[in-house]
Amino acid sequence: DPEQVRELMASHIDTYQDFPEPGVLFRDITPLLRDPESFHAVIGHWSAILPEQVDLVVGVEARGFVLGAPLAYEMGAGFVPARKAGKLPGAPRSISYDLEYGSAQIEIAVDALPRGARVMVVDDLLATGGTAAATIELVRRFDVELLGVSFLLELEGLGGRDRLPADVPVVTVESVQ
Ligand code: PRP
Ligand code: ADE
Repeated sequence: DPEQVRELMASHIDTYQDFPEPGVLFRDITPLLRDPESFHAVIGHWSAILPEQVDLVVGVEARGFVLGAPLAYEMGAGFVPARKAGKLPGAPRSISYDLEYGSAQIEIAVDALPRGARVMVVDDLLATGGTAAATIELVRRFDVELLGVSFLLELEGLGGRDRLPADVPVVTVESVQ
């Protein structure tokens, strides 16, 4: 149930100051992933609060893979990786962006998102929103129906939500300051 998921998240996400660089309060979700009860409860709850008719989950490398794949499996959807640059063959579509620390480039294979597919973008965490805004922009270059974007954890106060397009629904499992 939602209350149990809140408690498991509170007790299984660690916080590190000044990682990977000064000024960043880093949230580490790996304790949650390695605890079978927490991992199972979170994926079950998360899949239940997402739209029902998702055809494809797009997960962002790397933590978006670890959560997006079981989420897609649980919902009976397919999984499409948005990979960091240089990993996908066949002239993928590409976009560059800034995140809370540093910058990156992600890519989606040209044939990965068929016309009309109902797509949900998934990542572990919303910080400044750079990654999610770029992923949304990239997905929108395909002729698909973007149902929304979803995060396990939203870090409030970094303005992430304000950087996302207003017409894209946002689903977050939990948010913290
Ligand atoms: C992290 C996280 C999100 C992004 C959020 O990924 O998994 O994708 O940062 O930050 P933002 O909202 O400021 O863009 P990172 O690029 O560190 O890659 P990783 O998943 O490989 O650790
Ligand atoms: N990605 C971007 N900002 C982050 C943070 N504060 N904790 C964990 N991952 C992040």
